[in-house]
Amino acid sequence: MQKKQLLYEGKAKKIFKTDNPEQLIIHYKDDATAFDGQKKGKINSKGKYNLEISNIFFSLLEENNIDTHLIRQISETEILVKKVDIIPLEVVLRNIAAGSLAKRLGLKEGTRLNKPILEFYYKDDELGDPLINQYHIEERGLATKGQLKLLSVFGFKINEILNNFLEKKKIILVDFKLEFGLDSKDNILLADEISPDTCRFWDANTNKKLDKDRFRRDLGEVEEAYQEILSRLKNDVMN
Ligand code: TMP
Ligand code: ASP
Repeated sequence: MQKKQLLYEGKAKKIFKTDNPEQLIIHYKDDATAFDGQKKGKINSKGKYNLEISNIFFSLLEENNIDTHLIRQISETEILVKKVDIIPLEVVLRNIAAGSLAKRLGLKEGTRLNKPILEFYYKDDELGDPLINQYHIEERGLATKGQLKLLSVFGFKINEILNNFLEKKKIILVDFKLEFGLDSKDNILLADEISPDTCRFWDANTNKKLDKDRFRRDLGEVEEAYQEILSRLKNDVMN
């Protein structure tokens, strides 16, 4: 397998072609942005932490029969993945009110939701990734009814799997964002990443934020938070 030209550079990742048209290389960068790229910075070693954290979650999900794009790790900051066409939807799952949900519903941050909430956002930078519903998605042809149903089923199942796993690590999964893509046979694969960039993780004992909110809100100890998440995922956590 040979790395070929850069296909796309996003805010946190670069994507390269390979000599196999069905496979891509994803490079995780240390760059961090927030608020639609208005806030820019760097988090030391973020690329390698997020890669490792995301791979742990994706392997766990594969073991639980969720198909993902991940093939294997290539280096500290690069993975080989199956090429997919990304469905332009962000699928957000929430267990506890925080961020935009707390604002939208007037809930106090930290309020446990009666049951998990699933939301779709339209991945479109110019529109600012707006919250949309199934009728909007059908109108714009972003996904079929059947695909949308599957995205919801996968979303709730992934939430359950991650919650069970993270509970043992003394981490509260507040909310997180998923992206899915279609492979050449139109199978839906989980793509992108699951990391402190795309999740809210709180320490179960202290509620300390261990995710990108530390960067968004200038709380300090950002790199340490990412490192802490990785170390808990890799090791057994005592009380
Ligand atoms: P929100 O509360 O800002 O809507 O974010 C919900 C979750 O989605 C949170 O865990 C962070 C994640 N997220 C992303 O991964 N990318 C984004 O662009 C946004 C806005 C949120
Ligand atoms: N990733 C998004 C951005 O760059 C938003 C965020 O994570 O807060 O702006």
